[in-house]
Amino acid sequence: MEPVADTDELLRMLAWQIDAGADSVLADMPIDWLADGLKAPGAGFVWPNQTGAQQARGATETSTAVSAPSGASPPASRPTANTVATSAPARVTARAPTAAASTAATTAASTGATSPRFTAIAPDQAVLAARQSARAAPDIAALTRAISNFTGCALKATAKSTCVYRGAPKARIMIIGEAPGRDEDIEGRPFVGRAGQLLDRMLAAIDLQEADVHITNVVYWRPPGNRTPTSEETLACRPFLERQVELVEPDAILLLGGAAAKSVLEIDDGIMRLRGKWREARFGERKIRAMATLHPAYLLRTPAAKRQVWRDLLQLKAIIL
Ligand code: URA
Repeated sequence: MEPVADTDELLRMLAWQIDAGADSVLADMPIDWLADGLKAPGAGFVWPNQTGAQQARGATETSTAVSAPSGASPPASRPTANTVATSAPARVTARAPTAAASTAATTAASTGATSPRFTAIAPDQAVLAARQSARAAPDIAALTRAISNFTGCALKATAKSTCVYRGAPKARIMIIGEAPGRDEDIEGRPFVGRAGQLLDRMLAAIDLQEADVHITNVVYWRPPGNRTPTSEETLACRPFLERQVELVEPDAILLLGGAAAKSVLEIDDGIMRLRGKWREARFGERKIRAMATLHPAYLLRTPAAKRQVWRDLLQLKAIIL
């Protein structure tokens, strides 16, 4: 890279990055994901409409290990009792999907060994590995550790922290959102940014405090640029979410926003059609009533929609009285 002339030039370059939408620093040095032999996080992903031959080619193309430069800075996260920061530098290990690879994603969970952040294995093997690891967790603390050690979800490669939950380990109401954002990634806890503060005010309006609920997301790591998680990413996390529901034992679940609602209810309708109705959500063997409502981040942009959410919250309040 060309040496940078002065501070003004550095500031202009930084402003340009911010204008282009960059909102977080992932490593000290850029990584050229397009360089020969390297695979970006998510390599190994199989698009649903790929042919068998294309899928096989995708699988055999992943065979290199990538390490960020050793000078990469540590994460700025603050681990808490229910979260564990993922360790920098980012390391992505891409492998062809083999039986051995499917267990690699859980090895650290069982051995305590230092794990890579992401092991690129076939999506079905990531789900198998997650299921195995989730089932072995006897309580929420063990599940939190298992999730933190899981390397089968591509989102982990770029996130600073693993955000598992905030609130009570067991609760009558479980709240499930879409994915951690920037503030959550820094702090290592779900819903701590502006949307989370609004969520807390919404709950307070129906006399619920943080200690009365269990708040989580359908994925445990921040998607780069806050994009919506892919179905592959939510599926890799799903066995953990199922175990989490089993351990929390909620009476009812509130789903925040279209992405969480679609993923949990497995219905493709838009959030405006889905919201405000109790439905049955399946988590493994368990069936729990769940209602979708609008996401607090949407309410921050569209305050007029708070009226609809208030009606949904009253329905939630009615079942916990
Ligand atoms: N939005 C979400 O869906 N989840 C969070 O944790 C924060 C913002």
